[in-house]
Amino acid sequence: MNSNKKLRLGVISALAEEQEGLVEAMKGPHKLTHAMRDYTQGNLWGIDAVCVLSRIGKAAAAMTAAILVEKFEVTHIVFTGVAGSGDIFVKVGDIVVAESLVQHDMDARPLFPRFEVPLTGLSRFPSDLALSDHLAFSAQDFLSDELKSVFNEVEAKEFGLDEPRLHRGLIGSGDQFIHSRAQLGQLKEALPDLLAVEMEGAAVAQVCFELGIPYAVIRTVSDNANEDAAVDFMRFVRTVASRYAFHVVKRLCERLVGRT
Ligand code: ADE
Repeated sequence: MNSNKKLRLGVISALAEEQEGLVEAMKGPHKLTHAMRDYTQGNLWGIDAVCVLSRIGKAAAAMTAAILVEKFEVTHIVFTGVAGSGDIFVKVGDIVVAESLVQHDMDARPLFPRFEVPLTGLSRFPSDLALSDHLAFSAQDFLSDELKSVFNEVEAKEFGLDEPRLHRGLIGSGDQFIHSRAQLGQLKEALPDLLAVEMEGAAVAQVCFELGIPYAVIRTVSDNANEDAAVDFMRFVRTVASRYAFHVVKRLCERLVGRT
């Protein structure tokens, strides 16, 4: 966060619901459509930002991140969205901020160890600590101070938003929507410290690592990556995820103003 270059923040989500309200909140928005995606540049609570929807999956996310850096000259990237729980202590409604990310479907054995991205020497990509700290503080403040005013009692009860918690640790990304206990169990066996599963973060991590761009990933837990995952996911994304993302990104921008 101490770079001499003026901060320009790229904000990526896979789906519109995971980023609802951000483009509308921008001052002086300017939309440019490139390679089938809308990139909107403008000012978000004092921060020069570019918002974009990547769509789902690792290739879509990697392409979006690379374009944000190469064409829109962002200096930092935050990915915000939802994830399936990867641990019994991580509940629906909790937030996970990545300390590192793994492409859980990368497997070039016997040429390279399982999960290692060939010729990078890495299986886990560490996120930027300073940016992740800002994001984690923003998320914690949102959960502690604002959640009860953002959701009414009926909504909180329906979605089990009962004292949601913030976690920091390993997020796994793959081109699979994990929707069975067996699938998740196999991943957990190989990655015991896995906290959440999603489909984009580790691809953005690889792009940012290779381009030397600090990045952070935040995920609201929408489902338990089990047989009910698809139903829980749709309900949660529509009603809850957008409000989490909006308030956390707002708090992040407010924190970042003056610290860059
Ligand atoms: N995103 C949200 N829930 C997910 C799941 N169960 N698997 C993969 N990505 C997800």
